[in-house]
Amino acid sequence: MSERAHRHLIESPDLGEIVVDAASLQARVAELGAQITVDYEGRAPLLIGVLKGAVMFMADLARAISLPLEVDFMAVSSYGNATRTSGVVRIVKDLDIDLTGRHVLIVEDIVDSGLTLSYLRRTLAARGAASLEVCALLVREGLQKTDDDLRYVGFRIPPKFVVGYGLDFAERYRNLPYVCVFEGDQ
Ligand code: IMP
Ligand code: MG
Repeated sequence: MSERAHRHLIESPDLGEIVVDAASLQARVAELGAQITVDYEGRAPLLIGVLKGAVMFMADLARAISLPLEVDFMAVSSYGNATRTSGVVRIVKDLDIDLTGRHVLIVEDIVDSGLTLSYLRRTLAARGAASLEVCALLVREGLQKTDDDLRYVGFRIPPKFVVGYGLDFAERYRNLPYVCVFEGDQ
């Protein structure tokens, strides 16, 4: 086994440097949960996770918020199995819960070009929510024109493709408990 393989939960020559380790993830999620608890006091927010990448983050974040809350999920496709954005976003699985009068918090794994999020914002804003905010675990530096509309951000990361803690390459590596660089052929 190579030295590098020992550092990773999954043995693969495609896994590189750890960008956010497990302890840092858990600490930051606790902070975000505490902040959201303060900001939404007296309300029962509806957390909307964007499948599948946000699943791990959603599960931890929801447990760090000490308020009554509800969760729902939607799935959009923007990437297929490639690692560059296609610019095409479509809803693959829609919400089950009505947004009318709800305080909605979109929970995203990573904001890259911002295309997925701007599509989601536009779509959900038309459904009568009382408020609509975004909590993104990761924001990749450099590509978005603006991220003023991201209310909560976990970490800003350098412009490299990453996997782990929900993020995949071709559906793999979501189960890594940390975020690391993917060095394989994209
Ligand atoms: P955007 O529409 O360009 O902002 O892309 C956002 C979506 O692309 C995310 O929700 C992810 O599903 C996917 N994505 C972007 N960058 C990465 C990455 O580095 N690793 C894994 N998935 C990514
Ligand atoms: Mg993905």
